[in-house]
Amino acid sequence: MKKIQMVDVVSQYMRYECEINNKILNVVKSGAYIQGAEVKDFEFSLSQYLKSKYVISCANGTDALYVALMSLNLKEGDEVIVPTFTFVSTVEVVCLLGLKPVFIDVDKDTFLMDPYLIEKHISNKTRAIIPVHLFGQCCDMYSINLMAKKYNLFIIEDAAQSIGAQCVFSNSSQDRIFSGTIGDIGITSFYPSKNLGCFGDGGAIFTQNNKLSETIRLIVNHGQKKKYSYDIVGLNSRLDALQAAVLSVKLQYLDLFNQERQRVANYYDKVFSDIEWIKIPSQSTGSDHVYHQYSILLSSDINRNNFSNYLLKNDIPTMIYYPKPLHLQKAYSSFCNESLPISEMLSDSIISLPIHSEMNVEQLEFICSTIKKYVES
Ligand SMILES: Cc1ncc(COP(=O)(O)O)c(C=O)c1O
Repeated sequence: MKKIQMVDVVSQYMRYECEINNKILNVVKSGAYIQGAEVKDFEFSLSQYLKSKYVISCANGTDALYVALMSLNLKEGDEVIVPTFTFVSTVEVVCLLGLKPVFIDVDKDTFLMDPYLIEKHISNKTRAIIPVHLFGQCCDMYSINLMAKKYNLFIIEDAAQSIGAQCVFSNSSQDRIFSGTIGDIGITSFYPSKNLGCFGDGGAIFTQNNKLSETIRLIVNHGQKKKYSYDIVGLNSRLDALQAAVLSVKLQYLDLFNQERQRVANYYDKVFSDIEWIKIPSQSTGSDHVYHQYSILLSSDINRNNFSNYLLKNDIPTMIYYPKPLHLQKAYSSFCNESLPISEMLSDSIISLPIHSEMNVEQLEFICSTIKKYVES
């Protein structure tokens, strides 16, 4: 049996080796390594795919969040509501800009920002909300939109883990819309292990607002529209042409990659629904799930370390996303003086299993039968 990995970026590359190699070679021979036609073409294809008016690529997902916040012209001390159960980037950019993160808890079933906790955390300094579409499914954007409208707040969607997932965003319509294109600004990451991953770092910013798009485009390229003419303070955050070339090929297969992840998740769901000490991931209402991660909860009588060691002995890797919520981390604990019990509980009992587009039935059967045989000692 092929070695089981949490992600298998090399096998995915091998499937499209010729196509990707040709694209890369064309860029190398063109001499246009920074921006240029390849990057423009990719931005255009992604905007068509997402039905997003504006797509601005950048160096990585963390920069995408940073630039998104910069473009809103917030003032030092302004507050931004963030989930505590997320990857650190969502929050570090808030702090880097002198803004204050206000942590809220997540839903115990979907692991997503709990929209019913937003209102009681709003103050006269609150300016924005960052919903994170964690593990590949969308937050309740209908409720979050209502809150944002009521209190005149910006929404920056962190769609780093959910590219390709769509959701219903309004009560009156069943129309579905891509994650990242609902709020004022959305972002994603093309980190290699992401559902749409490149061969290094990469990211993108989405907006439907012309003015914001112009500001964002300035910021990612040193604040300049014309070379050596700086309109605003910016930074160097550009997607490489080589990464854009890889992404252009892979974007054509993103739906297929996501379907393959869903196939793996459905298989796991079926087997684990018969195991009473495993809680399978719940689906958020009105949203697709593209399973960037397949994360289960273990019941309290199961020792997570023992379980993961047992799997590792059988050559099955696992990961803990995330072992400590951000409001308990040394760097961020001063921003929070309440306990956020759901996130704290999740950090203690969650565990993620291998999931990616290259998993085969033999590997899946092996993982499931090994887990079924587990007996807590
Ligand atoms: C939820 C979330 N936000 C932001 C990021 C940051 O993306 P990048 O690693 O491209 O900077 C990640 C990446 O892991 C993420 O998972």
